[in-house]
Amino acid sequence: MKIVLLGYMASGKSSIGKLLSKKLSMKFLDLDDYIIAQEKMAISKIFEEKGEVYFRVIEHKYLKEIIDKEEDFILALGGGTPCYGNNMQEVNTGNTVSIYLEGTTATMIERLIRKKSKRPLIASLGDDKIPEFVAKHLFERRPFYEQAKTKIKIDGKKKKEVAEELEKRLN
Ligand code: S3P
Repeated sequence: MKIVLLGYMASGKSSIGKLLSKKLSMKFLDLDDYIIAQEKMAISKIFEEKGEVYFRVIEHKYLKEIIDKEEDFILALGGGTPCYGNNMQEVNTGNTVSIYLEGTTATMIERLIRKKSKRPLIASLGDDKIPEFVAKHLFERRPFYEQAKTKIKIDGKKKKEVAEELEKRLN
């Protein structure tokens, strides 16, 4: 089985993916980390030096490379991955279980004000600008996230709780 976790920035894709991989004894892969290793450059540096379009092109290439692997894994996508090219089609091929970690706009605003520094799309925004940016961005992105085969609500839940809930559902 291939499990793909997707959702907005700071929805917990990587941390929940790691917790779930231990519970299910499955290999864990993180698309952003894979890109960093292949390109030998931090994501923020790629955005800064090569631009977002270059990032989206290689993000698609590496996603396909991972999805085409024979083995089973849990993969955490980047927040924007589902929204470019035919990435959701790639993700939903075969018996892959794609899961949307769904948070309300309010939850995502609250989390991102705390965790914006490593995220190039919002790092330079003042805290007062985050609510409008996130509300508009989520409005645009939700239709892509909703293409996941299943979803789980994350509001008010600890990462550990979301991982436990997913483990029960997947077993
Ligand atoms: C992005 C989210 C980031 C990373 C890149 C772009 C986005 O991943 O892929 O900065 O477009 O939402 P996280 O969701 O892990 O922050």
